[in-house]
Amino acid sequence: MKALLVVHSKTGHTILFARAIGERLREDGHDVDIKLLRTKGASRPYSRDVELIRPPDPSEYDIVLAGSPVHGGTASPAALAYLEELENLKGKRCAPFATFALPFGGFGGCRRTLARLSGKLEALGATVVEGEGMFWMFGPNKTRMREACERIASRLKQ
Ligand SMILES: Cc1cc2nc3c(=O)[nH]c(=O)nc-3n(C[C@H](O)[C@H](O)[C@H](O)COP(=O)(O)O)c2cc1C
Repeated sequence: MKALLVVHSKTGHTILFARAIGERLREDGHDVDIKLLRTKGASRPYSRDVELIRPPDPSEYDIVLAGSPVHGGTASPAALAYLEELENLKGKRCAPFATFALPFGGFGGCRRTLARLSGKLEALGATVVEGEGMFWMFGPNKTRMREACERIASRLKQ
């Protein structure tokens, strides 16, 4: 199947998580594209006027994953703006993923981020499977990252 991973990443962590998920999906035979969201100006927490530069078109894909860093306890405005601009994702299997850096409040922010992305994916008519969040301080825990990639790949098969 064709899989698109659309990622917003300010400092590079979430794109690395996307690459790891992408590699795992390739092992299952999926044809994977990873696209980084670019914005005009900065995407600051809670900003409402994010302008995306040539956002990727998901229409040709069977699987669409949306990735975001946790910004201000929720998904980044760029990641949310991307999903808000789409018209529908009917018939596609989707999941969110996120990275975060605050050890305590961070877990709540990550849950909120995944929930917001999932909510937007569902509102677009997608079949949404549970996503994954990755704590990322001085790098990811490699075992946890491998397990997270495994879980996403396995949920997308069901
Ligand atoms: C503007 C900004 C706001 C952030 N807010 C949070 C937060 O609320 N909770 C958290 O756990 N991490 C927060 N972080 C840390 C990022 O979520 C974390 O470093 C993430 O891995 C960055 O992903 P990226 O490198 O793909 O941008 C914030 C980082 C930035 C730059």
